[in-house]
Amino acid sequence: MSQQPNPAAVDDFLDAVVGGDDPDLTAALADSAAAGLPAIAVSAQQGRFLNLLATAIGARRILEIGTLGGYSTIWLARAVGADGAVVTCEYEPRHAEVARANLARAGLADRVDVRVGPALDTLGELTGEPFDLFFIDADKENNGNYVQWAIRLARPGSVIIVDNVIRDGEVTTGDSEAIRGTRAALQLLGEHPRLTGAALQTVGAKGWDGFAMALVK
Ligand SMILES: C[S@@+](CC[C@H](N)C(=O)[O-])C[C@H]1O[C@@H](n2cnc3c(N)ncnc32)[C@H](O)[C@@H]1O
Repeated sequence: MSQQPNPAAVDDFLDAVVGGDDPDLTAALADSAAAGLPAIAVSAQQGRFLNLLATAIGARRILEIGTLGGYSTIWLARAVGADGAVVTCEYEPRHAEVARANLARAGLADRVDVRVGPALDTLGELTGEPFDLFFIDADKENNGNYVQWAIRLARPGSVIIVDNVIRDGEVTTGDSEAIRGTRAALQLLGEHPRLTGAALQTVGAKGWDGFAMALVK
């Protein structure tokens, strides 16, 4: 009897056929786990998607909110090229330390600036050129605030991605601070005069979830 298909097995299949992690990414996940960080990084296919998106739009400056051990940061930093830059905001000093080591092993330390502290504070310190791409993946309570910050730090044509906007469908039924934050972000996508957005449901090794994407006018 053939095995019942399931989303995690399909992700394994996709990783094998389309391409998954390379040794630096595998080591980043292993060292994050060894350091006790939670296993909440994006999947390999999601990382590939972020890398492809950043490459397709020619992103040279990327802002990430929520670093963890730097797994998604590696995917993003590879896309900006040697002259590009990624700023990534992380609240937990231990997570930032693990991320810095993972980025260094991947040969990307010189193009990534890991900012430690509550993102709402560190975002206020950012100066310089606007960012081409934003990846919002931190405390979901602040998703609406992070989208507002992204609009401020964007140029016309910048792209904003917000992760985990579906959460097993809780986006429609839940009432936690996190869900309220995500709903605020989605509402901005629908209503803000500078945004055009879409949100996609996904299923995979990380369960039933999804991400939202907005183009800044
Ligand atoms: C889902 S994880 C990020 C995963 C990462 N983007 C990846 O895919 O590899 C969320 C991270 O956001 C961090 N975080 C939580 N609240 C934060 C805040 N207020 N400011 C900055 N980072 C925060 C957490 O410590 C955690 O490391």
